[in-house]
Amino acid sequence: MKGVILAGGTGSRLDPLTRITNKHLLPIHDRPMITYGVEALVQAGITELMVVTGGTHAGEFLRLLGNGNDYGVDRLLYAYQDRPGGIAEALGLAERFSRGDRIVVMLADNIVEGSLRPAVHNFSRQERGARVLLTPVEDPAHLRHLGVPEMGEDGRIVRIVEKPETPPSSYGVTGIYFYDEDVFDVIPTLVPSGRGELEITDVNNHYVREGLLEHDILEGFWGDAGESIDAYYEVNDFVRQHGANKGLNCSRNTEQYWTYRHSSDIIVE
Ligand code: DAU
Repeated sequence: MKGVILAGGTGSRLDPLTRITNKHLLPIHDRPMITYGVEALVQAGITELMVVTGGTHAGEFLRLLGNGNDYGVDRLLYAYQDRPGGIAEALGLAERFSRGDRIVVMLADNIVEGSLRPAVHNFSRQERGARVLLTPVEDPAHLRHLGVPEMGEDGRIVRIVEKPETPPSSYGVTGIYFYDEDVFDVIPTLVPSGRGELEITDVNNHYVREGLLEHDILEGFWGDAGESIDAYYEVNDFVRQHGANKGLNCSRNTEQYWTYRHSSDIIVE
């Protein structure tokens, strides 16, 4: 499995900070945001990565990450997105890199407290299709900024609604996605959304319609540091106090979650 980290876009919600740098280079606690995504994937055993970025500060990623070896990456490639045409468009740039392999995709403004390893394991056992990671979100106002799944009676996702006025569940779709190699046949079939972007939610809904979308519920803290300036500081405060990319479990078992939630540095293999 290979990893793709998406770090393009405009970062307009963090303007004017993002006039002078790329959003994913802004600090989270003591280091640039994107290093958390790299660390999350490497810790999950994904060591062949592509970073997709764009805009005027793209060269700084090379200065920061170099060939990736300092971060435990075996092979690091870069792609340049000409314009912020959406998450799915950015992902399309990784087609040749993935070359028939399965991929895990991470939005570089997503920060997780726990480990992605259990989800990687689950996806490696999934015959085909895609997998998303959900996070419990209580506040409907927050859900209106996310992709939100509607769940069927059997507990499977029946559709995902992007930024819903009336959220159909109290889960958010995180920016961590798993795809089989067919994803690169799906992307060219997409049409731009109202905001003029190729939406990753449309990709996921394609897999829903095929009956091939699975999910896990991510345990521990999850944050989208690009959502707003308040979210940015919430993520900063959390990471400063508790850290990120620790060995929490990723399961549906809440008892297990609470066991790990309050103990640090437990690695669940
Ligand atoms: O964070 C989780 C949410 O991320 C999901 O719940 C939503 O379903 C998903 O659409 C996405 O929503 P956002 O509104 O947060 O997406 P945003 O436009 O902020 O883009 C997120 C990241 O994707 C951004 O940090 C970098 C990358 N990106 C985005 C665009 C638009 C690119 O690489 N290229 C792009 O053109």
